[in-house]
Amino acid sequence: MNIAKITTLFFSPTGTSKKIVQAIAKGAGQSCQIEHIDLTLPKHSKPKVFAGNELTIIAVPVYAGRVAQLAKERLQQFSGSNSPAIIVVTYGNREFEDALIELKDLAEAQSFSVVAASAFIGEHSFSSAKTPIAQGRPDDNDLKIAKEFGQKTMQQLLASATPADLKVPGDTPYKEGMKNLPFTPTVDTDECTQCEECISVCPSGAISLTDQIQINAELCIFCCACIKNCPVECISLKNTPMQEKAGALHLNCQQRKEPQLFY
Ligand SMILES: Cc1cc2nc3c(=O)[nH]c(=O)nc-3n(C[C@H](O)[C@H](O)[C@H](O)COP(=O)(O)O)c2cc1C
Ligand code: SF4
Ligand code: SF4
Repeated sequence: MNIAKITTLFFSPTGTSKKIVQAIAKGAGQSCQIEHIDLTLPKHSKPKVFAGNELTIIAVPVYAGRVAQLAKERLQQFSGSNSPAIIVVTYGNREFEDALIELKDLAEAQSFSVVAASAFIGEHSFSSAKTPIAQGRPDDNDLKIAKEFGQKTMQQLLASATPADLKVPGDTPYKEGMKNLPFTPTVDTDECTQCEECISVCPSGAISLTDQIQINAELCIFCCACIKNCPVECISLKNTPMQEKAGALHLNCQQRKEPQLFY
């Protein structure tokens, strides 16, 4: 089949899914126009219907073994016309459980035809210098695999040799996903310079500045974008149950996992 254009469609609060999807697109799109649509922030692109000859590469992070809920809501504004799609989940070296099958079901419900799927490893959102988890992932090797995966999938597409019914791991009904948490990252207001960088990177609009920075627990999805982007490192997991969780993940998820590709 002929591919007129490639579009990446991604939600990536801490940037790892973005790196991976862009490497896949680079591999796939050597002679094709590529557009990147970033769905991470509340103000993102308008809904769109993709044509049958456009390839879309969809990437989302895994939260609690499922597709991050906010990513799912944003992706539901886009649909295909039986258009080919590559789907990608990025996870923090624990497990991706039912996220890939959930993303495949979602893409198909939005009239995409899933031609290839993958699970890549990204540095865990809860990773820090004290408790590193999959630190530095995706690394050069991951990105090389991502690029080759894009290239090979494109070759298969052009040769009309993609699988009719791609199988991916995961169970239905899906495992229970993330519940809304009654707490948020902790802001050290004494150190805060009120630069508002955290507000500009928050995917859910949970942060506001009145007399000091405040985080709305009902909106916060605990993505850790604010923690990773605060220039004075005054937002953290300190005094939250996630600090203990990060310690446990650091201990239990040390064995390096490798990307899994399905095509
Ligand atoms: C709330 C939350 C839940 C997560 N759950 C999982 C999980 O179940 N398994 C896993 O391996 N990683 C998990 N992670 C880690 C992310 O999937 C991983 O860091 C991913 O690379 C983040 O993608 P991004 O950089 O595009 O935001 C979780 C992260 C967050 C914030
Ligand atoms: S990014 Fe850090 S310093 Fe800047 S406003 Fe947010 S918490 Fe304060
Ligand atoms: S406030 Fe919550 S949702 Fe917003 S960036 Fe921080 S962790 Fe993510």
